[in-house]
Amino acid sequence: MIKDSNIVIGVTGSIAAYKAVDIANKLTQDGANVDVVMTRSAQEFVTPLTFQTLTRRKVYTSLWDESNEGVVHIDLAQKADVVLIAPATANIIAKLANGYADDLLTDVVLATRSPVVIAPAMNVNMYENAITQENIQKLKDRGFIFIEPVEGRLACGVYGKGKLAETHHILGIIRTVIGRSGDMAGKKVVITAGGTREPIDPVRFISNRSSGKMGHALAEAARDRGALVTLITASTMDYPAGMDIIPVNTADEMCAEVVKACKDADALMMTAAVSDYKPSNVAKQKIKKSDQELDLHLSKNTDILSQVKEDMIKIGFAAESNDIIRNAIEKLHKKELDLIVANDITQDAWGFGSEYNKVTLIDGNENINELPIMTKRKVSDVICDWLVSNPKWTK
Ligand SMILES: Cc1cc2nc3c(=O)[nH]c(=O)nc-3n(C[C@H](O)[C@H](O)[C@H](O)COP(=O)(O)O)c2cc1C
Repeated sequence: MIKDSNIVIGVTGSIAAYKAVDIANKLTQDGANVDVVMTRSAQEFVTPLTFQTLTRRKVYTSLWDESNEGVVHIDLAQKADVVLIAPATANIIAKLANGYADDLLTDVVLATRSPVVIAPAMNVNMYENAITQENIQKLKDRGFIFIEPVEGRLACGVYGKGKLAETHHILGIIRTVIGRSGDMAGKKVVITAGGTREPIDPVRFISNRSSGKMGHALAEAARDRGALVTLITASTMDYPAGMDIIPVNTADEMCAEVVKACKDADALMMTAAVSDYKPSNVAKQKIKKSDQELDLHLSKNTDILSQVKEDMIKIGFAAESNDIIRNAIEKLHKKELDLIVANDITQDAWGFGSEYNKVTLIDGNENINELPIMTKRKVSDVICDWLVSNPKWTK
């Protein structure tokens, strides 16, 4: 969805303006047409040439530039699929809250009917100032989307809330906004990810090699196509933006959250590597080393899929080291799945922790589609393609 989309990025006079360079660059690399509009103050921090080189497009710096073609503020406002202001100063927020139209960026925002996303960055006192907060609230009430700044050490030397949100978070929100009209729009999908951790004592646990990359990639793919994603994750990776995140540790926690989230869902995709067993007794205190051998008794965890009673599309993953297809087909039927994604975990070039995966899709009629090695994101797109073409999905 991001490919060929038209994104206007407004850059204002914050020290965080250099971070907008990375945002513009990443969106351009993803295939978006990025038009950068800079305020006069922004140009004190970063040159238009930097953005022009990376976006390979003209950078707009003034309403009155004679090289502007057409009625520049209206043209930019109309063609934008989304307007992002990052970083947004206290000043631009105040001007927008009061309907100012005294430069190119304010004119574009007033003239657009597309979503406007604002990522503030400023000193903590400026951010917490009641006037700024009132302005933010006013804009939120009018449908502007805010990406909250984060806490940290600010450029002015103080610690507090005011740092521009992380680039990956801002990009996730932009993808969510652009994906709203995608082919999964309005559908709710529940996705599990990561390897669960079953405690032995307060410091030790049993887990597995699943990183959560496959599940997070799948969640991002569904989000980018408009799905309302609930990601129930045991992964320690950064969480994707633009979805409900439910962090969990154990299989029991994951099971309870999946059952709750599936109540009104259209599809469940179980990529998590859920521990089949857990220690029967969890020691309250750290188990001390001794000269004795230590026996650990394990009990079976509940099978999560067996607890999900709702009729929805269910996709499972099978990580196998032998008889991959045979074992996957057995699991497909046993768990009454609509699709199983089988992967061979014996190769280090793909699978656990890798950006790549090599999988075979097997549907309920045992149709087998063996895919070549692909990025986990590409595999996710193929799974979403399968999902949206399934008759149960459109029902
Ligand atoms: C070194 C420096 C850093 C600044 N950083 C910020 C900032 O992070 N956020 C902010 O709201 N204003 C910041 N300002 C103040 C703005 O640049 C100033 O309010 C300006 O009028 C904003 O104009 P604009 O909103 O049209 O870009 C900074 C000013 C200076 C001199």
